[in-house]
Amino acid sequence: MKKVLLFFSVLAIVASSCQSNSYEDLALSQIAIVPQPQSIETTENGTMVISSGLTIVAVKEEELKIANYLKDYFAEINWTVKVKEDAPSSNFISIQQKSIGSDNIEAYVLSISQKGIQIEAANGKGLFYAVQSLIQMLPLDGEAVKLPVMKIKDEPRFAYRGMHLDVARHFFPVEFVKKYLDMMAFYKMNNFHWHLTEDQGWRIEIKKYPKLTEVGSVRKETMVEKNFNPYVGDGIPHGGFYTQEEVKEIVAYAMERQINVIPEIEMPGHSLAALAAYPELGCTPGPFEVGTIWGVNKNIYCPSEETFTFLENVLSEVVELFPGQYIHIGGDEAPKDRWKESAVAQAVIKREGLKDEFELQSYFIRRIEKFLISKGKKLIGWDEILEGGLAPEATVMSWRGEAGGIEAAEQGHDVIMTPNSVAYFDHYQAGPEGEPLAIGGFTTLQDVYDYEPIPEELSNENQKHVLGAQANVWTEYMKTTDYVEYMVFPRMLALSETVWSQPEVKDWARFQEKLNWQMQLLDARNVNYHKSN
Ligand code: ACM
Repeated sequence: MKKVLLFFSVLAIVASSCQSNSYEDLALSQIAIVPQPQSIETTENGTMVISSGLTIVAVKEEELKIANYLKDYFAEINWTVKVKEDAPSSNFISIQQKSIGSDNIEAYVLSISQKGIQIEAANGKGLFYAVQSLIQMLPLDGEAVKLPVMKIKDEPRFAYRGMHLDVARHFFPVEFVKKYLDMMAFYKMNNFHWHLTEDQGWRIEIKKYPKLTEVGSVRKETMVEKNFNPYVGDGIPHGGFYTQEEVKEIVAYAMERQINVIPEIEMPGHSLAALAAYPELGCTPGPFEVGTIWGVNKNIYCPSEETFTFLENVLSEVVELFPGQYIHIGGDEAPKDRWKESAVAQAVIKREGLKDEFELQSYFIRRIEKFLISKGKKLIGWDEILEGGLAPEATVMSWRGEAGGIEAAEQGHDVIMTPNSVAYFDHYQAGPEGEPLAIGGFTTLQDVYDYEPIPEELSNENQKHVLGAQANVWTEYMKTTDYVEYMVFPRMLALSETVWSQPEVKDWARFQEKLNWQMQLLDARNVNYHKSN
């Protein structure tokens, strides 16, 4: 029989500081869970041993779901597990759905006694997060593990903890999206913003408009590095899209991991791939080609009745696929050149008594918001949707710094902070010498860690409109899943502490130490990451 390991190995302790051969010597503050839990306290001295053959105690439906999730996890490390209704005298994890006296619907308590592990939460979310904390303390190698007796009480600071992924500039397969979701869940991130349409590719099957994917999902080539002028293309077609069945599969996979999926269908700009498929939606006759060059394109949807019908039909299919409340409609970087020159656009301005093309964009977004509300959904847009007047119930994603977010919150709108100064994971994290080609910028791990999502300018009353923060992963220069991972990790770990942990439990020095263990967890999950932090 294998001996219980008494040192380093298997507990989520700070690997580098673990010279001791006994857990009891280790401070509980050295437990390396990310994001940092709200409180970790020791209630009595001692340890418990958990090993293969353990019993998971679960009775209610939510408890059984978590038990099955854990069972799958243990199967990966070759542990056998029994699921039962009653706890044995040792080596068990008891999952209990019960009130734990917190108003926060994601709160949990994880208690380790000398006999076993007890997980408690009012619902499946809290139970799931307790399990994420637990599995960050479990072995990578299938050995038994000795855990210190302790009690973790935890709940998130922000309700919205987001990660975005641009699958349009480069397409990534379903399996990678699932891995991304797994890693989000591991760090308790709960909103996946899926950027599905762009100038350079339309990535979601829409049954009423098959050319969106037949034509719009493939570009003939991609510009080489930053060869804008003179333009150099690589001559290699790039394409791909998700069928509606695949979308459903991903949404279900995310839901099992307590992640809401927010689809982004860009309008009125970043729509060249759609125009290539259906040129009649533009203000000029076309023809249009799916984009091969990065940047902002002047060809955008014309605000015609034909366009609104198209977008409503597209959104009608989209809302059926995504059960969450939010639909993201983009709204960013829509040059007004074509609208200025278009008789159709100018007629709408006149008919609606609008001042200019910015008010026309506001009219466009308001119309779409009305439609989404009629479908029981809420609209999110990038902060450009403030220009010309915000749609009445819109949520704003503040990306050009925080000013848009502050303005929207002051108008009483909900806000998600995703400022390009700290939340753009397409920016360099080191170098740039020695780093792979990136879009630019410079955002270190510590920049992300130190970010405070609530701007000082906001009154106490308006602070509540900041739902949380999100990092954006634009993939112009990320051609491979390995490269995406390299740009995301470990910055996502820093973000997870920024959005989950209260400022008083954040500690940059401790976070850096925890990375020693966390990098082993990333290695075990075959996740690529930036190593020099
Ligand atoms: C954006 O980065 N254009 C939202």
